[in-house]
Amino acid sequence: MPATVIVGAQWGDEGKGKIVDLLAQHADVVCRYQGGPNAGHTIIVEGETFKLRSMPSGILSGKECVIAAGCVVDPGVLIEELDGLAGRGVATEGLVHLSGNAHLIMPWHVAIDQASERRLGKLQIGTTRRGIGPAYADKAARLGIRVQDLLDAKILRQKIEVALAEKNVWLERVYGVAPLDLEAIASQLEELARRLRPYVSDTSLLVDRALADGRFVLFEGAQGTLLDLDHGTYPFVTSSNPVAAYAAAGVGIGPNRIDAVVGVSKAYVTRVGEGPFPTEIEGDDQARVRELGGEFGTVTGRERRCGWLDLVALRYAVRLNGITSLALTKLDVLSAFDELPVCVAYRLRDGSESRDFPAHQSDFHHAEPVWEALPGWAEPLDEVASLDELPDAARAYVDVVERELGVEVSLIGTGAERERVLSPRGLAAVARP
Ligand code: IMP
Repeated sequence: MPATVIVGAQWGDEGKGKIVDLLAQHADVVCRYQGGPNAGHTIIVEGETFKLRSMPSGILSGKECVIAAGCVVDPGVLIEELDGLAGRGVATEGLVHLSGNAHLIMPWHVAIDQASERRLGKLQIGTTRRGIGPAYADKAARLGIRVQDLLDAKILRQKIEVALAEKNVWLERVYGVAPLDLEAIASQLEELARRLRPYVSDTSLLVDRALADGRFVLFEGAQGTLLDLDHGTYPFVTSSNPVAAYAAAGVGIGPNRIDAVVGVSKAYVTRVGEGPFPTEIEGDDQARVRELGGEFGTVTGRERRCGWLDLVALRYAVRLNGITSLALTKLDVLSAFDELPVCVAYRLRDGSESRDFPAHQSDFHHAEPVWEALPGWAEPLDEVASLDELPDAARAYVDVVERELGVEVSLIGTGAERERVLSPRGLAAVARP
């Protein structure tokens, strides 16, 4: 009953979609365990680009896919995604299973996310404005509407009525925006409910049975470790827990069912939204990395901030997630630089150096990177078919990552397409430890 978690080791956008897509070819079931349509997983298959929002990346390999209890679901976005996939010949019927315990993102969550960010002005979080935070807040406050409420039209209507009466007061009085119309929302939701009902199932039981039957399950995290609500760079985080341990909680299985954790990290770092970022690149090189790496948000189209590789933050991700091997993506993007700085420690306010991620936000805000300058390489990596063919400097770069983290680099991304990945031990061995 092998089970492997794929987790983002940075601030999201590490290329998890591509890694899950590759490993899913060796899996039977793929589960999303947290987050919602704030995620945007870009996958290129035979020259065709797919941008997935809520759907596990395994759908492109025809695998059974689970959207688990720990997720929040925008029903309109999910239907659009299902229709979009069907329109491009990707089968979803009988393959997609939606947990009845997942919470719904309602129109007021989106409206409040947008209005709240506007109101915060310069202090904004820089959210994706998809209603993620307000939906998780209502879940914790026990005011949420769940996927299983879609199964009963009467209950659904009642819950919408009760919630909207309060949310409209907030929208009008606190945020000064127009209230939402009950009838319009109720009839739209009833139609979406009709479409989504066939997908609702007991996904905890489904995954438990799959594991008991010896089927191989992949757990796909969204966002990344540093965006984790409890362990990330709060308050500039998302409202769920991307860390690997939450795969068990979000799906509803025991933590002892997980065998391996593959962390995904870019060979550099990106971050969208606000918040401190010690290794952010100064000068023209930042724009160069952004252009070469195509670093623009899948969901929002925003420019991503780019930084050199931060091994202190990655060491923290290895610790928090129990990462057993690392997928290092987009190494090809670094082919254009004479020298590549990597951050091996932080210099703190008191002048001391630390290889560990600071526990307190003020230390992190003021942390200065301690750099090790590694030689760059000019050769493009598109034709590289094995580890031995990597330029010496690229190989040395990977060796430094392994040395600093004490973790094997099991996959190396050398281009956007599915086949542009080096895997010294073979994909099957990475997927099924
Ligand atoms: P939210 O998840 O929309 O509430 O946004 C909270 C923070 O998480 C913001 O800084 C977003 O930019 C960031 N974020 C959310 N989803 C992603 C993602 O998929 N990739 C990268 N950043 C994300």
